[in-house]
Amino acid sequence: MRKETKKFYIETYGCQMNVSDSEIVNSILQENGFIEAVTIDEADIIIFNTCSVRQNAEERVLGRIRNEIARKILKPNLLIGVIGCMAQRLGDKLSKQANRVDFVVGVDNYRQLPQIIANSSKKGVLSDFTQQYADELYSEFKPVRKNNLNAFITIMRGCDNYCSYCIVPYLRGRERSRPSADILKEAETAGSEGYKDITLLGQNVNSYHWNNTDFSRLLSLLNKIETIERIRFITSHPKDLSPKLIETMAQCSKVCEHLHLPLQSGNDKVLKRMNRGYTYSHYREIVRTLRLSIPDIAITTDLIAGFPGESDKDFSDTLEAMKEIRFDFAYMFRYSPREGTKAFLVNDDIPEQDKLARLESMINLQTEITREKYVAQIGKTVEVFVEKTSKKSAAELAGKTRDFKIVVFSGKEDLIGSFQKLKIVDAAGWTLKGNLLNAE
Ligand code: SAH
Ligand code: SF4
Ligand code: F3S
Repeated sequence: MRKETKKFYIETYGCQMNVSDSEIVNSILQENGFIEAVTIDEADIIIFNTCSVRQNAEERVLGRIRNEIARKILKPNLLIGVIGCMAQRLGDKLSKQANRVDFVVGVDNYRQLPQIIANSSKKGVLSDFTQQYADELYSEFKPVRKNNLNAFITIMRGCDNYCSYCIVPYLRGRERSRPSADILKEAETAGSEGYKDITLLGQNVNSYHWNNTDFSRLLSLLNKIETIERIRFITSHPKDLSPKLIETMAQCSKVCEHLHLPLQSGNDKVLKRMNRGYTYSHYREIVRTLRLSIPDIAITTDLIAGFPGESDKDFSDTLEAMKEIRFDFAYMFRYSPREGTKAFLVNDDIPEQDKLARLESMINLQTEITREKYVAQIGKTVEVFVEKTSKKSAAELAGKTRDFKIVVFSGKEDLIGSFQKLKIVDAAGWTLKGNLLNAE
C-alpha cells in the first residue's frame, strides 16, 4: 500500500473523554503514516471531534464545520470529517445540516479511520460509520498528548446510568472497564516520560471494575508508581461513591484533595425524575464523610436549572443545597432536551426565560461562594504544580494547587514542570495570587 503523507488536523469539542479520544485518533492516524498538521491551514484532512450533550454544543460545532467547508472552494481535495458523539448521534443525517462533509465516524469506529479516509478521497460522497462495538476500548494505542505535564488516562468507556436527561449512554454504549494492567502500564509509561500529574477518565469512574480490581484498588496501585506525584479522576457518581473509596482517597498520598461530584439538583423529586439514584440527604452525608476524612477537600459539581416539572420551590432547594454545601466551583447548565432520552418524552415545560433566570441566580450565588472560598485561601501556604506562563503576562507563571485552584505568581519559565511552595497573597476572580516561598 502506498504510504500516506496527508496532513490531518483535529479540532476537539466536549468533555475530557473527547480530548482523550482525539489523542487516540491522532495515534491511529500517525501509526498509519498520516502527519499531524501544525495549523488548520496546511491540513489536507480536517476532523471535528464533536459533543451532543446539549443543543448549543451541537450548534457551536456545526457553525465551525460550515465555516471550514467553505475552504473547499479554494482547496477541492480537502477532506472534512466529523467524529465523536454528534457523529454517533446523527450519522449520515449530518449531511442535512452540513452538506459536503466527507466522512462521519462514530466513537467505536476510530480503528477504521485510515481506511475510511483513503476511501473518502476516492469517492467524494459521504461515508457513514456509526456501528457500536460494545467491547471497543482502544486499549493498545499510545495516546499522542498535547502537553508534557498532565496525562489524561481513560480507564473505562460508555455509561450504564441512564440519567433521564442525558444522551451519553445512547451514544457511548454500555459501560466497560479497561484491563487494570493496561491502565497501570499506560500510567507507568507516562510517568517515565515525565508526566507527574495524571487524571483518570470515565463517565462514572466509581463503578470501574476489572476482575478483582475495583476503583479503590486501582487508585492504590497507581499511588505506588514513583514517578507520578498527583492523581485525580473524573467523573464520580454519588450513588457509587463508597466509604471504602473515601478511605482510599484519604490514605493515598498522591490522590489530590479534590473531588468533582455532580449533584444536578438539590430536590429529591427532581433527582428521582432525573434517575440519579440518590437523595439530597445521601449526597450531603457523602460530603460530610469526605470532609471528615479529608480536611480541606475541594468539592466541585454540575448543576442543571429548569429540568421538566421543576417548580420554583424545587429550584430553591438547589440554591439551598449550594448554600449548605458551598462548592468550590460549579459547572451550571440550563436543561436542554435531547431526543431519544426519557426526559425528552415529558413536556419541556419551563419557559426559556425562566430557565435562564434560574441559571443566572445559580451563577450569581456560586460566584459569590467561590469568591469567599478563594479569599479564605489568603495567607495559606500551598504546593503548586507549575504548568505554564500566565495568560495575562509572560513574566508570570500559573500552576495548580492539589485542590484544583489556579495560582498565578512571578517566576522564571524554567520552573514549569516543577512543584513549588507558595504563599497565597490575593484572590481575584477564579485565580489566586501567590509568592514563591524559596525565591532568591
Ligand atoms: N458522566 C459525566 C459527564 C456527563 S455530561 C457526569 O455524569 O458528570 C456533564 C454534565 O452535563 C452533566 O453532569 C450534566 O450536568 C450536564 N448535562 C447532561 N445532559 C444535559 C442536558 N440534557 N441538559 C443540560 N445539562 C446536561
Ligand atoms: Fe450522563 Fe448520567 Fe452517564 Fe453522566 S452518569 S454520562 S450524566 S447518564
Ligand atoms: Fe462528552 Fe459531549 Fe460526548 S460531554 S461523552 S463529548 S456528548
